[in-house]
Amino acid sequence: MTTKIILWLFLAVLCLPIDGMTGALKPFTEVPIPAHNRQTPAKIELGKKLFFDRRLSGDGTMNCGTCHDPNQGFSDGLAISLNYPTTRNWRNSPTLIGVAFQKFLFHDGRAASLEEQALFPMMSAFEMNQNLDFVEEEIRAVPEYVTEFTEVFGDSDITRERIAMAIAAFERTLISRDTPLDRFLSGDARALSPKAQQGYEIFTGKGNCTTCHYGVTLSDDQFHVLNVAENPEHLKDPRIATTRRFVAKLYHFPEYRTLATDPGRYLITKKKEDWKAFRTPTLREIAATAPYMHNGIYDSLDKVIAFLNEGGGKDNNELQPLHLSPAELEQLRVFLEEGLTGTPITLTYPKIP
Ligand code: HEC
Ligand code: HEC
Repeated sequence: MTTKIILWLFLAVLCLPIDGMTGALKPFTEVPIPAHNRQTPAKIELGKKLFFDRRLSGDGTMNCGTCHDPNQGFSDGLAISLNYPTTRNWRNSPTLIGVAFQKFLFHDGRAASLEEQALFPMMSAFEMNQNLDFVEEEIRAVPEYVTEFTEVFGDSDITRERIAMAIAAFERTLISRDTPLDRFLSGDARALSPKAQQGYEIFTGKGNCTTCHYGVTLSDDQFHVLNVAENPEHLKDPRIATTRRFVAKLYHFPEYRTLATDPGRYLITKKKEDWKAFRTPTLREIAATAPYMHNGIYDSLDKVIAFLNEGGGKDNNELQPLHLSPAELEQLRVFLEEGLTGTPITLTYPKIP
């Protein structure tokens, strides 16, 4: 009998820290690098050139940096991202800072690796609208690229896979480090200003933020239905409806022609619980990446915080009203702004061959 009780007690103690751990914030750790695409300085430099090379778009007007602009927090500063001429995008451009840590890419998580992801915008009719067979020939026609691909990959073959690998290697260098929160979590009790520390207490305490925003990136890599307000542009602009229906058709959504809203994760899984679920975004460098949410509906952190304080959008089951005072709302914003802003990323623009 006593052995049984001891065993139960032992098991109960074992379970405790696991529960407590799910919401823990963690300081910066080194970026995970996949074994099949090791980082080398030459590969990163090649990836940077390709990232800023307008040859990657069909009409030669856009590069990846057009919508992931270093001066706009590697986003584009718009509620709904830029687009290929005559079309319109339908979602907000996410920052690429810390993207190497993300388990799922895109607001609906439809890509799993940076190598896989990089080809999507090139092929997308409403982003770069480029033909991948054509872009391979375009890059191959540039002697400097042939030399660099040979140096990086061992032979002169220029494939879409290698283009994507080099871009991914460059993206893995875009990281947020040495934030006041990193220093605070590593034991520097004075790293956060008094107001930011009060905000930290709310973030990890009665704000319930760490239910979903935890770990190094302050994201659980999961999908949640917060029901943020619709972006009225979605209802007004037929070009956005075109984009939405086009993507839905690609993902075998049966009623794509009448689809009037962004179905989020449902588009990929077709599971009822994923209807309008979106990935929890990273909160690092959040002060630099407005507007917020998958559709850019909030242009300031105050508006995001007000939305969360009200318990989220209509009929959501995940958030509760927080009843925070105006002073507490401000403390939370100061924590997000100051606490999560690290050493600026210094970037020298490459010379495009
Ligand atoms: C015309 C604007 C535009 C261009 C050009 C563009 N992107 Fe994006 N990017 C977006 C938008 C919008 C999303 C989010 C789309 C979604 O969730 O459906 C995105 C998402 C991403 C993501 C996923 C980020 C995350 O947190 O999930 C990565 C990585 C990315 N883009 C890299 C690139 C690369 C590499 C290029 C160049 C080959 C590129 N993008 C070109 C607008 C653009
Ligand atoms: C139930 C999970 C959950 C909880 C709890 C939660 N969030 Fe989020 N958060 C999300 C998701 C999911 C999104 C993206 C929603 C979308 O794109 O429509 C988001 C978006 C955000 C954004 C905008 C990020 C961006 O780049 O667009 C901020 C800022 C944010 N949350 C802060 C907070 C704070 C502060 C709290 C606590 C008061 C909190 N969140 C609580 C899941 C959560």
